[in-house]
Formats: sequence, C-alpha cells, structure tokens
Amino acid sequence: MPNASNSLPQQVAVLGAGGRVGRAVTAALLERGLHVNAVIRQPARHDLPRHPSLRVAQGDAQRPEELAATLRTVDALVLAVTPFSAPPPSFDGFDLDYYAAIVAGVDANWHAPRRRLVAVGLTATLRLESGDVVMDEPDLFPPELRPFAQAHARQLTALADTTLDWAILAPPAGFGTPQGQGYRLLAEPLTRQQATAPLTHGQYAEAVASEVVHPTVHHTRVAVLPLG
Ligand SMILES: NC(=O)c1ccc[n+]([C@@H]2O[C@H](COP(=O)([O-])OP(=O)(O)OC[C@H]3O[C@@H](n4cnc5c(N)ncnc54)[C@H](OP(=O)(O)O)[C@@H]3O)[C@@H](O)[C@H]2O)c1
Repeated sequence: MPNASNSLPQQVAVLGAGGRVGRAVTAALLERGLHVNAVIRQPARHDLPRHPSLRVAQGDAQRPEELAATLRTVDALVLAVTPFSAPPPSFDGFDLDYYAAIVAGVDANWHAPRRRLVAVGLTATLRLESGDVVMDEPDLFPPELRPFAQAHARQLTALADTTLDWAILAPPAGFGTPQGQGYRLLAEPLTRQQATAPLTHGQYAEAVASEVVHPTVHHTRVAVLPLG
C-alpha cells in the first residue's frame, strides 16, 4: 500500500524503465533503498539487472487502465517514456497530445494519498534569457523535430490540470555526455551555455531520485545542469 502523505515514498513506478533514462533512474532509486516497479511494454525484450527491490511489471503508458494495479501500490512515479527512440522519418499522424494523454490517464487511474510524479523533460521546451524557447532556435534544436517538442510542452499544461504533486526535470542539450559529477536545478530562463551543458544520465538520475525522495520542485519545470 502507498505511504501516508507525509512520509517518504517506498514504492515507485518507472514508466519506460527499460530506456536509456529509465534504466539510470531505476538504478538511482534502487541505490536509495526504494522499491521500484519497472513498467515495461515487453519485459522479455529488456534486461534490467536483477535486484531484490526491483519488480518488473508489464504495462503500456498509453493504456492507463492497465496501469491501475501498479498504481495501487506506488506513491511516486517517474515518467520516462518516449514515442521515438530516434528521430522519425516523418511526424505524419503523430499525436501532439502523446504526453498529455499519458498524464491524464495516470491522473485518472492513480488514487494514492500521495501522488508524486517526476516527468523527464526536453531541453527544447526551456525558455532562454533571449526570450526565445530553445525549440525556436534552429541551431539549438532541429526545426523538423518541433512536433516532438510541442508534445513535451503540452505535458506541462496537462500536468497543471491535475492534482498530482508534479515536477518536470529537463536535461540540457549535452545530455548523454559521458563525464561530469553532481547536479544543480535551475529555474528558467537559461543562457544558451546552460541550455547546451553536458550532463550524464547518472547525474540526471540522481536529480530525479532526489526529487522523488525529498521533493523540492512542485508544479513547475526546472532544468538539471551539471554542478559548477
Ligand atoms: N536533452 C533532452 O532534453 C533529452 C535527451 C534524451 C531524452 N530526453 C527525454 O527523456 C525521455 C526518455 O528518453 P530515452 O532517451 O530514455 O528514450 P529511450 O531510450 O528510447 O527509452 C524510452 C523507453 O520508453 C519506453 N516506452 C515507450 N512508449 C512506452 C509506453 N507507451 N509505455 C511504456 N513504455 C514505453 C520504451 O520501451 P520499448 O522498449 O517498449 O519501446 C523505452 O524503453 C523522453 O521523454 C525524452 O524526450 C530528453
């Protein structure tokens, strides 16, 4: 059963736990002693390292009613799914409400007293000191990928329509660079240098795990940047 509202989370669901970000976040949560429910569409296709506090559950974020059993047992959730693991050849037919629909489905099917949701954000949605959004700067974000950025942006609006205790943590454009330590959270607007900073998946995952266990960001989006 989920915890009472004032205590620390014990059970966390990670949607997209088999992905690049999801795996790092799952490892960071397990490292902190939490029980992780890794929600994966096809568990047989994934090879998450075994851990006594890890439970793998079959589930599709786009079929929220199927998540109800997992949601009954958790008091925190990390949303780390993506419709594309690589840029698609075309966005024809792409649903700009991809993330918004998942958020609405989670909200409708999750009835725990404490509902902490940390969503993985996208650099392209961040506001710059120039007044532009990163997705408006062609040298920072490919214009042809704009629908994906718009779908991420709509996630924020959808979250604001819920009573979830939510936070969006957006990585910088240098996400995946294999060196660096520590992290800091930064409110928008960002400089171009901050928006393009390098950050490892491990650094990012530490930020997510910390915001699950000891939330400091509520009902807003922040950037996760390297320390220093
Ligand atoms: N700089 C940036 O801002 C930046 C950079 C990279 C990623 N991101 C964001 O980070 C998030 C995760 O990206 P990633 O790199 O980890 O992607 P990834 O490696 O492709 O992993 C995504 C995972 O999501 C799962 N998934 C997709 N749709 C699902 C659904 N309906 N239900 C359950 N699971 C589903 C996939 O499972 P399957 O194996 O079943 O397909 C996959 O394991 C995304 O929101 C992405 O936009 C941001």
